[in-house]
Amino acid sequence: MRPSAPHPVPAAFAASAHLDEAGYHALYRRSVADPDGFWGEAARALAWTRPFTRVREGDFSGDAQVRWFADGTLNASVNCLDRHLASHGDRPAILWEGDEPEDRRTLTYRDLHDQVSRLANALTTLGVGPGDFVGIYLPVIPEAIVAALATARIGAVHALVFSGFSAESLAQRLNDCGAKALITADESRRGGRLVPLKRNADQALAESPSVRSVVVVTRTGAEVPFSPGRDHRYENLVAAADPMAPPVAVGAEDPLFILYTSGSTGQPKGVIHTTGGYLVHTALSYKYVFDHHDGDIHWCTADIAWVTAHSYVLYGPLANAATIVLFEGVPGYPTPARFWEIVDRYHVTSFYTAPTAVRSLMREGDAPVLATSRHSLRLLGSVGEPINPEAWHWYHRVVGGGRCPIVDTYWQTETGAILIAPIPGATPLKPGSATRPFFGVQPALVDGEGNEIAGPGEGHLVIDAPWPGQARTIHRDHARYVDTYFRRFPGRYFTGDGARRDADGYYWLTGRVDDVINVSGHRLGTVELETAIASHPKVAEAAVVGFPHAIKGQGIYAYVTLKAEFPETDGLRRELIDWVRTRIGPIASPDVIHWASDLPKNRSGKILRRILARIARGETDDLGDRTTVANPDVIPEIIGRRAA
Ligand code: PRX
Repeated sequence: MRPSAPHPVPAAFAASAHLDEAGYHALYRRSVADPDGFWGEAARALAWTRPFTRVREGDFSGDAQVRWFADGTLNASVNCLDRHLASHGDRPAILWEGDEPEDRRTLTYRDLHDQVSRLANALTTLGVGPGDFVGIYLPVIPEAIVAALATARIGAVHALVFSGFSAESLAQRLNDCGAKALITADESRRGGRLVPLKRNADQALAESPSVRSVVVVTRTGAEVPFSPGRDHRYENLVAAADPMAPPVAVGAEDPLFILYTSGSTGQPKGVIHTTGGYLVHTALSYKYVFDHHDGDIHWCTADIAWVTAHSYVLYGPLANAATIVLFEGVPGYPTPARFWEIVDRYHVTSFYTAPTAVRSLMREGDAPVLATSRHSLRLLGSVGEPINPEAWHWYHRVVGGGRCPIVDTYWQTETGAILIAPIPGATPLKPGSATRPFFGVQPALVDGEGNEIAGPGEGHLVIDAPWPGQARTIHRDHARYVDTYFRRFPGRYFTGDGARRDADGYYWLTGRVDDVINVSGHRLGTVELETAIASHPKVAEAAVVGFPHAIKGQGIYAYVTLKAEFPETDGLRRELIDWVRTRIGPIASPDVIHWASDLPKNRSGKILRRILARIARGETDDLGDRTTVANPDVIPEIIGRRAA
């Protein structure tokens, strides 16, 4: 194993950090030796309506029923808003910047509380109650946060759907959870381009009979169709609503939100997160991993509809009374200096983004970064995929001026909050490694048969004991939850990722080991992509694999066999790409469509993706074991037609 010299904690950072190295080890030891004591204490830092008397129940055996703080009751919006009003009511909660740099708004904690309370009352008037699902299909505007917290305030469950997803994807999600209401906007703006959100929503709603009320935020003021009785203007509802909204106390194990993510089958999974454990884990991990101090200004660039933003834009930071920056646009618009100008404008102290954004900005050179000061930054973060050392060094040296630790945070939609990451005042950094487990998290490596690997080594990453932020189930399909995460390695949570552990106990994530590809930090199931492509009337069959992509991390490589009567044309290639964009969304656009008259299969007709993945990666000299291929003649043809 390559020895790598760790980057020590910078002295200036260490001077004010919450924890040093000894502090991390002591707290970690306590967290695993006495999880009830450790997590109980962390949970008591929140506001409970009825205090819990039990901390942890259940384990990963059987049907993996896990419960935390189960007899306590609380409200998430109270924890993010009400309890800060007396001391921090006038503190900015949200510093919002729109797609155009001059478009700006500030909402203090008091403003946010007022908006949330009013919308909560409006939702109640629309017939939404505890346990109901509310779809949220909004751009990154303050109303997205208002909508989520208002839903939580009345004990309902929010379901944010990425505003870049198509009408079809939205309808699928609204139907899966049986959403009673949808909160959307007239249009959204990203990188100077308008997206017709309400039009997409209307298309989806034609297929989503459970949705009885639609709340439409005015973002651009575009004329959009209104369906009388069903559609309501957000601004009118909020203006007319009572600003006093008593929060509904929910059980700690009651769901706070559902979030859809891709898995290894065609159907996205509706991952359910509960209220108590999720809030405790996000609040504590935000405090320690981002080394939060009073007055910090935190900017996480993730879209509000991804789990990263649920946990580290919304719940973690707001539970800590942080000020967050919320940005509607994209990194390169109108110039490649946009991110760093925002950092300077709002004096951002911690900046959290994805490796794909770092790589795309690195490509623009140092000048746009160096034209800004970035003096306020203390800490940088990375999430969503392994960060390659070249991008790490650029981020560290150019963006952070060599003085900011980088927290490379490993976690998943299902884990709710960070599992493996540096504690920045405590952990010497190794570029490309997510380093060591967060408190209470017990990672292990196992081989394909489930045998545990001790010491340095490489294997499948599993987690051995429950943690409070973990998803409790997949909506309406607990069997799929058990099957996906707990069947392969009984008694352990299987992440679906491979990892290496070095002699210092640092973890190096090596990527997914299942049929999931990670495109710009977004998870896409290959089966979901194949199903979308194969639903085109001219397609006979499709196989999708990932391949290394300089900016996105992984790109989408689709092998497509057409029905015999249709010719392989460039026009059809473009049509298929558009087809996938409208079925799933632009993030799912295939990078390569590779025509193939047939695909390699085994004797039972299963497509051998392993071989196709090697061809996509250009590893044509080493295709691995070919003895199972029933139709080996197709391989030279496929290689011959690989784009140079
Ligand atoms: O493969 C891992 C990768 O992203 C997957 C989780 O994706 P998602 O549920 O969309 O959540 C992304 C944001 C939390 C993981 O299974 N991943 C995430 N963070 C890292 C990572 N891989 C390596 N290093 C990371 N820091």
